[in-house]
Amino acid sequence: MGKAKWWKEAVAYEIYPKSFKDANGDGIGDIQGIIEKLDYLEDLGIELIWICPIYQSPNDDNGYDISDYKEIAAEYGTMADFEALLEEVHKRGMRLIMDLVINHTSDEHEWFIESKSSKDSEYRDFYIWRSGQEKGKRPNNWASIFGGSIWEYDDETEEYYMHIFSKKQPDLNWENQEVRNRLYEMVNWWLDKGIDGFRIDAISHIKKKEGLPDLPNPQKEPFVESYDGHLNQPGIDVFLTEFTEKTTKQYDAVTVGEANGVTVHDAEHWADEESGYFNMIFQFEHVELWGTKSSGLDLNQLKTSLSRWQAALDKKGWNALFIENHDLPRVVSTWGNDQTYHKESATALAVMYFFMQGTPFIYQGQELGMTNVKYHTIDDYRDVAIKNYYQSEIEKGKAQEEVMTYIWSNGRDNSRTPMQWKNTKQAGFTEGTAWLKVNPNYTTLNAETQQSDPDSIYHFYKRMIQLRKTEKTLIYGTYTLIAEQHPQVFAYIRSSEERHFLVYANLSSKNTSVDVPEEWRIKKTILTNYTDRTESGQILNLKPYEAGICKITPV
Ligand code: NOJ
Repeated sequence: MGKAKWWKEAVAYEIYPKSFKDANGDGIGDIQGIIEKLDYLEDLGIELIWICPIYQSPNDDNGYDISDYKEIAAEYGTMADFEALLEEVHKRGMRLIMDLVINHTSDEHEWFIESKSSKDSEYRDFYIWRSGQEKGKRPNNWASIFGGSIWEYDDETEEYYMHIFSKKQPDLNWENQEVRNRLYEMVNWWLDKGIDGFRIDAISHIKKKEGLPDLPNPQKEPFVESYDGHLNQPGIDVFLTEFTEKTTKQYDAVTVGEANGVTVHDAEHWADEESGYFNMIFQFEHVELWGTKSSGLDLNQLKTSLSRWQAALDKKGWNALFIENHDLPRVVSTWGNDQTYHKESATALAVMYFFMQGTPFIYQGQELGMTNVKYHTIDDYRDVAIKNYYQSEIEKGKAQEEVMTYIWSNGRDNSRTPMQWKNTKQAGFTEGTAWLKVNPNYTTLNAETQQSDPDSIYHFYKRMIQLRKTEKTLIYGTYTLIAEQHPQVFAYIRSSEERHFLVYANLSSKNTSVDVPEEWRIKKTILTNYTDRTESGQILNLKPYEAGICKITPV
């Protein structure tokens, strides 16, 4: 068992501010809206809130393109609103972490405007500028994650700048000490304000491959997937060590690194309790399994992946547990069944990840089982990644229906539709017109309806959170996967010296059963998503998406 820490015992909630709650009727969520809903979060049992970026931004990528790190975006409110929010959060005994976007800025940030103005600007080297290999030919063949080339040409100075994400998100040049110093100063400025830490965006991309060489291109694509050029590259440790030593480690800050591409082999460096860069990391191996199988979920791979991380960090570090975020489609529509078994599958998936060793993160609306959305015209979508994808696929000659089908199941706007508060116009999200259409199912699927139904997904989440607060074994206990080869059921045991729990989830729409290992005997069910559960000796008979927890004792 690792050291006890408040952030290990907390349940975290991710807010996508643009879609959470609009208090002033302009159709965009805002800080006052978040303040209005703090009681809702407190009542749910949340103790840690992560807010996606609320800094000044032209919003090409909804705030992940920052034009001023020390200003609050006008559409979200003012710095006074932010300070009020922080105070209200702390008053309720909750903590607040901000999103820290330091791999890139907006092209409207003053550093970039200066940098672009001339090759001689003292800010030129704040970003990654290169001349073409020859006239009209880009510096290398890397693709941007958001589609097209990673390079954008600037007519004035006749050079290209690098952008891993959209062309309005130029990458900062971390090789430049002055860039790093300016970032550290900004980070500490926020920590001095009393925030409780950061979720650190795209941090595994900050080091680029030495010399920025062309990458192998066997398919002769116009641009090649470029992760090998900028994901978790050798040398990143030097940057991360310096960054954390000069900032977060000087404070009692909690940090969660967005660690795309980081594997269990690096886990020790990234999330070791004593020497890791961060307290926790978001790793993406399990969510990347979505889409690898046409039927949705490859359960065995999911078990292998999540259990590997449980083992890697046991007694050494701490996992950040999640199945949804603002970049992913809704889990009940991907791995679950949002039609026939909406409630059952939303709660079964919840049980599956929530009781592993780590801090569970809930993404807004997940606690209601919010679902994917299907808009028929591209004009109803807002996400820059969706728009770029649509355009490039149509240009390649793909049929519109095929492109839309992909967007319906994978697009990021699936999780960004406004939070469904009530069964009233605009789902109670705004008095105006929402910036992204609300999901039409708000009439039946909304917070108010679920709060008044003790049998709802919302109340199930609330029960899970309470249970985790009362049973420390479910936080710090050891994790052992059982029924490893079972094709439908994800089950594991959490154990401490005196107390033992069996956590199980049938992640299929068929009845099934699991043999409880001989060395254990079921004592009592303490959580179930079916009302009529009865104990049946050493066999768990499970209905479609049935999930729960029982106390067990050694035989
Ligand atoms: C990861 C964020 O979660 C995503 O929303 C954003 O588009 C990219 N990083 C770029 O900042």
